[in-house]
Amino acid sequence: MQHGDRSSLPPNLILVGFMGTGKTTLGRHLAQTWRRRFIDTDHEIERSARMKITDIFAQKGEAEFRRLERDWVENHMPAGGAIVATGGGLAIPEGMPELLKSKGVVVALFATPETICRRTSASTHRPLLRTENPLERIRELLAIREPAYLKAGISVLTDGRNLPELAQAVERVYRRESRDRG
Ligand code: S3P
Repeated sequence: MQHGDRSSLPPNLILVGFMGTGKTTLGRHLAQTWRRRFIDTDHEIERSARMKITDIFAQKGEAEFRRLERDWVENHMPAGGAIVATGGGLAIPEGMPELLKSKGVVVALFATPETICRRTSASTHRPLLRTENPLERIRELLAIREPAYLKAGISVLTDGRNLPELAQAVERVYRRESRDRG
């Protein structure tokens, strides 16, 4: 088998879920322990657009940001061997849950609105939460997005779990799903 052959690579682990559910923190941690490549889609998009996310939203609009996210998944996601933390809205548009599933094992991280609000309160790259009442906004958006997250991946709850516990839970799901993919 040639090096780099798609079939020789373990499946990607793709983390989806709302802002503040810990996709990046967990993804980095797992990449370090499994010695895999870590990719953060927000970072990839900022790098290729040479713009900060807040500027893309402000100057080009959310629709353009979503187009960049889809383009990255369709054309730049590695065939395997990577751990990918996605932006919170990436999995939501029509067809994205199915597309993501075709690219790897998808795990959807969940947290309560209160936990998310606490974890995101100091963030600077989340224009969607720059509002008078972020908790209310989180509740609304989460209710809209929940079905897509559930459709995209196997759910894992992050509340009340520290990083090693969460990593263990996700690793179990990944091993099982990888086996089932054959
Ligand atoms: C977004 C989540 C952010 C970032 C952008 C939009 C969303 O990523 O992609 O601000 O629509 O939920 P994180 O989930 O990493 O915060």
